[in-house]
Amino acid sequence: MKSIKGIVILIILFFNNVEASEDIMPPKKMHWAFDSVTGKFDYESIQRGFKVYKEVCSACHAVKHLNFRNLEVIGFSADQVKSLAAGYDIQDGPNDEGQMFKRPGRPSDPIPGPYANDKEARASNNGALPPDLSLIIKARENGANYVYSLLTGFQTPPEGFKLGENMHYNPYFAGGGRQLAMTPPLVSKGQVEFDDGTEATIDQMAHDVVNFLQWAAEPEMEERKSIGLRVLVFVGILGVMMWFANKAVWSNIKKNKQDN
Ligand code: HEC
Repeated sequence: MKSIKGIVILIILFFNNVEASEDIMPPKKMHWAFDSVTGKFDYESIQRGFKVYKEVCSACHAVKHLNFRNLEVIGFSADQVKSLAAGYDIQDGPNDEGQMFKRPGRPSDPIPGPYANDKEARASNNGALPPDLSLIIKARENGANYVYSLLTGFQTPPEGFKLGENMHYNPYFAGGGRQLAMTPPLVSKGQVEFDDGTEATIDQMAHDVVNFLQWAAEPEMEERKSIGLRVLVFVGILGVMMWFANKAVWSNIKKNKQDN
């Protein structure tokens, strides 16, 4: 009797789990310039994406692994980076009097986040913690498609759905439960004005900010792929050479055998 009860509990647990994972919608499959073995970064999109990050996401999220200087790689000039950094107040110190002080940012500084610490971040977001975004693409399965789907996936909840206080309906949220504490950040066309004249639709802004976050998570991707490709070509050529060498050696042996 006891064991039957155990089995029933196991079955219930199993189906509950299945239900929980089915509760998350699989991400949309998008096309990305960095996909595939020969994939490259789309630097124009990454630059636009940085603007989306700076003007929208940086109100709540940090990208703590990036220094201002890293932005030169995506096409900002040294002067642009300098004046961008100088626009931030950076806490430094202590000085000779033992006091902390504020000074304008320098290119070598990490880009500062919006909050002094996690407690302040939670206090400003109804208890939820907006995660650092510099590695988020790697931290989530199918990261680029996932973040794109999350940003474009906010919807009105179906009738009868129990939405928590200060929560927003989004079936893509990896945390499950189809709701999260982030207010939909991209809500209207033209929310950001792109310097290159690209129309800032919600899809475009989401696409560009994902390109930026993908680069932030693995700036060395292009190098890795090109090394990988060169290794493949090398191994291929070596393979062909070995095949010919093998044939030559054996044909000599066979000939010797016939001669004897
Ligand atoms: C008003 C504050 C706010 C803004 C602006 C904001 N977010 Fe968030 N974000 C949050 C909070 C809070 C969470 C945590 C949600 C939770 O765990 O329920 C979050 C979570 C996330 C997550 C993690 C989801 C997961 O799987 O855990 C991603 C990715 C994200 N935000 C991306 C962005 C991007 C990209 C932007 C800019 C386009 C942005 N956010 C703008 C508050 C914000």
